[in-house]
Amino acid sequence: MNMQAKTGRLIGVGTGPGDPELMTLKAVRALEEADVVAFFAKRGSNGNARGIVGPHARETWTELPLIYPVTTEIHKDSKDYREVIREFYEDSVHKVEKHLENGKTVAILSEGDPLFYGSYMHLHVRLADRWPTEVIPGVTAMSGCWSQTGTPIVQGDDILTVLPGTLSEFELTRRLADTDAAVIMKVGRNLPKIRKALQTTGMLDRAVYVERGTMANTSSVRLAEKADDEAPYFSIVLVPGWAEKR
Ligand SMILES: C[S@@+](CC[C@H](N)C(=O)[O-])C[C@H]1O[C@@H](n2cnc3c(N)ncnc32)[C@H](O)[C@@H]1O
Repeated sequence: MNMQAKTGRLIGVGTGPGDPELMTLKAVRALEEADVVAFFAKRGSNGNARGIVGPHARETWTELPLIYPVTTEIHKDSKDYREVIREFYEDSVHKVEKHLENGKTVAILSEGDPLFYGSYMHLHVRLADRWPTEVIPGVTAMSGCWSQTGTPIVQGDDILTVLPGTLSEFELTRRLADTDAAVIMKVGRNLPKIRKALQTTGMLDRAVYVERGTMANTSSVRLAEKADDEAPYFSIVLVPGWAEKR
């Protein structure tokens, strides 16, 4: 009998922003096919993506948690951070590749869409030219959040700018001043700075704050009405362009 060795296969699986019903049929199919399911997580947690796919978990999976060695302890622009995180991604590639070499189908979970600010990308760029690879898109956090809150974001010739809240107040202000609509990601401890930039550009009144969008414990409020500056990592600010012109 001619038994051909099974070839390892990599699948980047977008899980959507939180509600398991926002997973695509393709994502569910990939989870059925996976031998190994890898996911990024902070120490002491399984991470959001693994939580989202919970209803589809299988006993046959080998689970491969990839635990970040640091999160906010070292500044992200420092040489130390870059070095530690580069080593982490290389070590993660090594762990995933061992399973691929054994002919396994490895699904790497990515919250939202894998190729939109997702850690999956760091593995994808190191593995996709060596192994058969498929990327399954996911509903992004911003899309989940503007749908949940019924916030029409852009229309016609509107320009939408996506900004990481980690930018300086100067840079946030400059970019906001030059767009019709914006999505500000990575809010967390950056909220006071984001609020100031929105105030300076006259956009605060139409900004909508959403935390844990589409998850069971989500909440949202007009940012101008939010009394405190507390925000979890999974929060976003939407600045609609279209609503402004109605
Ligand atoms: C590393 S990015 C991941 C983006 C993701 N790949 C996507 O497609 O939206 C993480 C940031 O996305 C935003 N985010 C992700 N999920 C969210 C959710 N359910 N609700 C609000 N913001 C979310 C937050 O701003 C968070 O800091």
